Amino acid sequence: MPKRLHLYISSTIILAFLFCPPTRAGWQEVGQMAPSPAKGNQITFHSPAATAIVTVLAPDLVRIRLGQGTTLGPDYSWAVVKTDWPPVYPQISGDKAMYKIRTTEIEVRIQMNPFRVAVYDLAGGLISKDADALGAEWNGSNIRCWKWMPPDEHYFGLGEKAGSLDKRGHSYVMWNTDPAGYDSLTDPMYQTVPFFMGLRQGKAYGIFFDNTYRSFFDMGAESADTYSFGAEGGEMNYYFFYGPDPKTVITRFTELVGRTALPPRWSLGYLQSSDRYYPDSAYYSVAFNFRQRHIPCDGIFFDTAHMDESRDFTWDKAGFPDPSKLLSDLRQKGIHSFAIVDPGIEVEPGYSIYDQGMAGGQFLKRKNGEVYTGEMWPGTAVFPDFTSEKTRAWWATVSGNFAKAGLSGYLTDMNEPTVDAVPVSKEWIPKPLDADVVHYDHGLNSPDAKNHNVYGMLMSEATRDGLLQAQPNERPFVITRATYAGGQRYAAQWTGDNLATWEDLHASMRLIQSMGMSGFVFVGSDSGGFIHVPSTELYTRWLEAGVFNPFFWTHSGARVHPVDPWSFGPQQEDVNRRTIELRYRLLPYLYTAFYQSTQTGLPIVRSLVLEYPDDPRVFDETPANELDEFLFGEDLLVAPVVRSEETNRKVYLPRGTWFEFGRDHAYTGPLTLTVDTPLDAIPIFVRGGAIIPMQQVVEYSGQAPINPLTFEIYPEGSSARE
Ligand code: GLC
Repeated sequence: MPKRLHLYISSTIILAFLFCPPTRAGWQEVGQMAPSPAKGNQITFHSPAATAIVTVLAPDLVRIRLGQGTTLGPDYSWAVVKTDWPPVYPQISGDKAMYKIRTTEIEVRIQMNPFRVAVYDLAGGLISKDADALGAEWNGSNIRCWKWMPPDEHYFGLGEKAGSLDKRGHSYVMWNTDPAGYDSLTDPMYQTVPFFMGLRQGKAYGIFFDNTYRSFFDMGAESADTYSFGAEGGEMNYYFFYGPDPKTVITRFTELVGRTALPPRWSLGYLQSSDRYYPDSAYYSVAFNFRQRHIPCDGIFFDTAHMDESRDFTWDKAGFPDPSKLLSDLRQKGIHSFAIVDPGIEVEPGYSIYDQGMAGGQFLKRKNGEVYTGEMWPGTAVFPDFTSEKTRAWWATVSGNFAKAGLSGYLTDMNEPTVDAVPVSKEWIPKPLDADVVHYDHGLNSPDAKNHNVYGMLMSEATRDGLLQAQPNERPFVITRATYAGGQRYAAQWTGDNLATWEDLHASMRLIQSMGMSGFVFVGSDSGGFIHVPSTELYTRWLEAGVFNPFFWTHSGARVHPVDPWSFGPQQEDVNRRTIELRYRLLPYLYTAFYQSTQTGLPIVRSLVLEYPDDPRVFDETPANELDEFLFGEDLLVAPVVRSEETNRKVYLPRGTWFEFGRDHAYTGPLTLTVDTPLDAIPIFVRGGAIIPMQQVVEYSGQAPINPLTFEIYPEGSSARE
């Protein structure tokens, strides 16, 4: 069993004190800029104090780099994967006052003094510009860029943010953090995705600020007519995407940073977890229960309890004397197993992973050359340097070898990374690594401040590589808690340690939509909440909503009893069974949506903003109009119940024809309906014109070939009733 039961405290208050955004005092202008001759798709500008490079990558995509000094630093990115853009031939012209770069879609105007960047459409309409009073500036090593904020512009994205979907009027910090027990006001969260979309009058653009330092996004909290983004170090390095369709922005962004590959089909089924499952007999019993009760299930998770004293890549011999047999028996029942892995490796000579890592120089060091140690679940621990290719290769070998016992995947946890601020076994107070830790980082041996936010992503990359090596004919499955923009290439994400509260159920709807608008499609929350015990009603409703999480599981922790679909009595078990069966009936639809997403980068849980950007109702977050409905794939509109004792709820149907799911009642939107919501009901509507592929109920996704495969056809514009 783990050495300790970690206690959760709300970290919101502590974090609020730690991360205060910079103010305007002390910011310095770039000064008069002058161009060097343009080279193809690129032009460089200089002032005595700064250098800026503007590069046109595609007619709708421009990169702007700006930094102090006469040259910019080495150019690499952990996020960007596409570099082979087809040639573009922008027209570049200008004089001492202004340069213009014109593509077939936009015109970028660059003012020389003060240095300001503006983007226009080809009809001369202004899309975005630096603020008149302040543009891109610096203050010591801090850099920041202020932009004009029109009164009718709204902002979406920024990855894993629990509050409102529209970011206007709020400010955010990107610094991967463990905010266990978070609520809708908590910030920062586990992940850093410095990408957002601006939307005005139905037209969208995107900005990706590719900077891994702690960064800040003030979307109008500080001022009513400017927004800004910046970081504590590095360059002002951003990509500007011109839509104007918001879906085009996301498709281009995910072309730049990569997309989620098609996951293994089993990982789209229902998965089960509790940190209370111990020893092996508990796993046999859970599997037996699923099959005997005919509740579909495709996977089960091995939390830290399976480890020998919380050590990675070990089994507790007393509780799990024959892991290969256990995993193979579970597999026989159609249940895949995946296991937790934490970055903290116990300092324990004789523990092979520690010994190997020390011998190979795989662990992070302090500036003075000492190996860094921090407190984690097993006690005093060392941490792999995932910015080093050599260390990632070592980690891949270790995780691949361990998986050979019969694991189908991994969950990479605590990889913000987080260590314990107080010695283990007292209260859990999360903190990052110490500031004097250095990471290999392409041989630059750069500070933790620069590498912290990519640690989780690189750990998930190495873990995925391990599965690919060990099981080359299987699609790898990794789910990670922390990551950076582009991390969707390596792993799914879950929304971390939520609370068993209605607020967190509601927050999960917006979190997942925001992540979807930031390139992350394979996401889900702990149904029922991770911390505390959900009421019967809350668990039932969360499971109903979870059907429409691309990643669907119950994961409960720090409780006396696990939460299983049968934990709330026979009547509720029936409701929960039917809920999970619905997920299985929809698997062909979900799988198709995943495939489509590999081609477009568009999310599966899709905010209505993406499909109806010109309908202000879909981002109007006034209290009476909470944005808790979304599209699941292209064609299903889902409005789960996220409030207690809600026997009916309002559902907004945007323009077009909408059918009740599985029925021929049609409505013509825009229309707000009131729908009855007894405890076993999930309001689902289907877009007119849709064909929904569905299958028979099975006990696990690979149990039998799909038979019959049915197509439910919902005609477009058919006789609809109001
Ligand atoms: C962290 C994870 C959680 C896991 C727990 C114990 O809190 O977020 O999912 O169950 O650690 O390993």
